Amino acid sequence: MTALIRWLGMLVLACFAQAATAADPAALYGQHCAACHGADRLGGMGPALLPESLERLRDSELDTVLRDGRAATQMPAFGATLAPPDLHGLARWLRSAPADAPQWSADAIRASHVVTHAPGTLPARPAFSADPQNLFVVVEAGSHHMTVLDGDRLAPVHRFATRFALHGGPKFSRDGRYVYMASRDGWVSKYDLWNLAYVAEIRVGINTRNVAVSDDGRWVLAGNTLPRTLVLLHAEDLSVARVIDVRGRNGDASRVSAVYDAAPRHSFIAALKDIAEVWEIPYADAAGRPLASLAPRAIVLDDVLDDFFFDQPYRHILGASRGGGGQVIDLDQRRKVASLALGGMPHLGSGITWQRDGREVMASPDLGQGRITVIDMQDWHTVTTVPTNGPGFFLRSHERTPYAWADAMMSPRRDTLQVIDKQSLRVVGSVTPSPGRTAAHVEFTRDGRYALVSLMERDGAIVIYDAATLQEVKRIPMDKPIGKYNVFNKTTRSAGTSH
Ligand code: HEC
Repeated sequence: MTALIRWLGMLVLACFAQAATAADPAALYGQHCAACHGADRLGGMGPALLPESLERLRDSELDTVLRDGRAATQMPAFGATLAPPDLHGLARWLRSAPADAPQWSADAIRASHVVTHAPGTLPARPAFSADPQNLFVVVEAGSHHMTVLDGDRLAPVHRFATRFALHGGPKFSRDGRYVYMASRDGWVSKYDLWNLAYVAEIRVGINTRNVAVSDDGRWVLAGNTLPRTLVLLHAEDLSVARVIDVRGRNGDASRVSAVYDAAPRHSFIAALKDIAEVWEIPYADAAGRPLASLAPRAIVLDDVLDDFFFDQPYRHILGASRGGGGQVIDLDQRRKVASLALGGMPHLGSGITWQRDGREVMASPDLGQGRITVIDMQDWHTVTTVPTNGPGFFLRSHERTPYAWADAMMSPRRDTLQVIDKQSLRVVGSVTPSPGRTAAHVEFTRDGRYALVSLMERDGAIVIYDAATLQEVKRIPMDKPIGKYNVFNKTTRSAGTSH
């Protein structure tokens, strides 16, 4: 009897559920969303809506966007048009991959290429009086803008719109004239900082990680997660040179986790997310003479490496694997040469180096625990761990400052940066730009005198500190400034910042 009642109850529930989720999400998408986000979900005037595109959006945030739209953008609210079960079904459907894997062929890449200013047509001198070597670019993720900041006057020079969801870590040409940016949805843009104008754009993929620029200024390499490709562009106008399928020795395709320019080696390095290989792509020989063909060479590893640090000469990679544990890869010997006793979840990608007691040390934050790990770069032993307020993401310094700055972004103390003495390895001070609000990502002026901190909120700011006294000097309002990059420190590969 009870079994029968339960069965009847389930039948009623099933009918109800079916009535309530009557609408087919694919049909709803075609009717309400495709015009802006593309019938294939690859984007249009709105961003791409594939599972990879939405990785950083929490479920609750996705529900909110669909229901309420996004104020001051073209994204409408659907809370009044579509019933809650329809919205919920649509949100879940967006998290699933299309039956046919989305394609982005070399032809599609070429068709997206736009040159707004042909090479050589704009004046080869800055259109403003600021020191072009001491400019910063600030990525404002809130409303997708970039601000160009004069590092001497500590004031904005210009602000312009970028592609949707630009990644942090734009790259400069060696002379500092051009900045190359990559967006989540695969757009690579080249911007002339001296003339404050875009010069070229191209869509290299559907979901892109980042770009690297060769030290000789000839190449831009983009790493994609969708499709599984590396795209080599001519830096001059961003035209396509080659699309490289990323496949391991066993034939498995892999997403790219990041690409780097190993300038002293005259090569690009590609870190791969799904196969235990690192690729090196030389673009010049040892004497710096350009190579005609840029062919990847795989270095086979024991483990997939998730996170990477290079020493200053780009001889060694310090890598952390997913299961924890770290290793040192010698790029000349093309093999693992040491293990690192790291423990925890080190964020090697934001490691920095300096000299201490005549030895080079490397320090990196930990994504899981409040501590900075300091490693000796000669014998790879752990010198010490410096306890901090909580798990953090970035560690930054400069050759001309005695301190390294660490955030605690992934903890309740996310509003405070701690300042560590690089010789005593002790916390000697802290700054809290705005109590209760996230502060992280420090970059120094060219001379190391000022530290620029991001208040990473929609109504945020760049807060500027005297790097010696830790006194606030100024704050400049910004819309979620996720990162800022100084031309001189990046192009000279300062040991105090990632490159
Ligand atoms: C009139 C054009 C338009 C229509 C119609 C539209 N969108 Fe959007 N949508 C946008 C734009 C533009 C954005 C980017 C907003 C911003 O700048 O944050 C966006 C953003 C989004 C985002 C957030 C993406 C992210 O990564 O932050 C989601 C999710 C989304 N739309 C889903 C939908 C769905 C589902 C529909 C249909 C029910 C839809 N949109 C209909 C234009 C549109």
